[in-house]
Amino acid sequence: MPAACHNCLVASFYTFDQLQNFPSLTPPARLAVIGDPIGHSKSPQMHNAALQACGVAAQYVRVEVPAGRVKDAFQLFCDQGFIGVNITIPHKLEALKAVDVVDPLALQLGAVNTLVIRDGRRFGYNTDGPGFLRSVREVFGVEIKDLRVLILGAGGGAGRAVAVQCVMAGCLHLVLANRTESKLAPLVKELRGLTLRSLELEICSLDDVSLANVSGKVDLIVNATSVGMKDADQPLLPQGALLNRHMVYDMVYRASGPTELIQQAAAAGSKSADGMSLLLHQGAISFEHWFDRPAPVEAMRAGLMAATHA
Ligand code: ATR
Repeated sequence: MPAACHNCLVASFYTFDQLQNFPSLTPPARLAVIGDPIGHSKSPQMHNAALQACGVAAQYVRVEVPAGRVKDAFQLFCDQGFIGVNITIPHKLEALKAVDVVDPLALQLGAVNTLVIRDGRRFGYNTDGPGFLRSVREVFGVEIKDLRVLILGAGGGAGRAVAVQCVMAGCLHLVLANRTESKLAPLVKELRGLTLRSLELEICSLDDVSLANVSGKVDLIVNATSVGMKDADQPLLPQGALLNRHMVYDMVYRASGPTELIQQAAAAGSKSADGMSLLLHQGAISFEHWFDRPAPVEAMRAGLMAATHA
């Protein structure tokens, strides 16, 4: 992991300690992403492309913040005149508790991934859920409200947020699957409380027979598990479960090449999207919160592509 560099114009990442007296950069750092680890994040390339495209004289940097220090970090960002911050793993829940005002959707989704600083007050938003909806619309040309959706890994943080967002967007039929099935009971209870129109909600095991059966009943299959992050991960779906009418959304993005699931989708002739699409659209919505204007999505996409191929 490269260390933060005091003398470089742009360091790979800055540390929590450096936030106390942030280096003076040209253009000045006014936006950041925090996480632990954070050196791998492609958000700076995406957001710096957006800032440049909009002629905003500011830059977006990575800051490594340890668990337990998110609230302190937010105070330091306020003190240093930052406009906003993105929050990534593992701090999204801590961030929810570290803001002055939580947007109702973020509260519902149980996570804050975007901080906006206005007049020294800290406002927390979640752009992952709405980013997922935009990304599905862009890649597949459909609305969640018209779909039957299977979420693999619905018991994890990302899966839970997608499940809540699908229900809030009015999806027709939702199937929740998780390796540890006991994690699904509280989610089912919560989702039933949110249902705005008739929703068919079911739980499915992650074994091959159950997945083969349930895949016949759904249109969109979302992988929200961490399977796929490593090069040698096992396939999530049994052979033959995917048909060319399926839409496959893998929330994982793997720099070394398509995940097993994306490869399975290609082999079946199914349309697919990966975590890069989510990164783009959640980032665009964060930008809109910070600047109250439409995000330059094509510049952001080009920034991400350049970072990916670098
Ligand atoms: P979080 O912090 O979001 O809860 P996590 O521990 O990284 O996340 O796990 C995210 C999801 O990936 C969970 O649904 C997890 O299943 P469990 O709840 O059973 O732990 C799922 N997951 C991780 N590894 C998996 C594997 N090998 N097979 C299936 N699901 C897996």
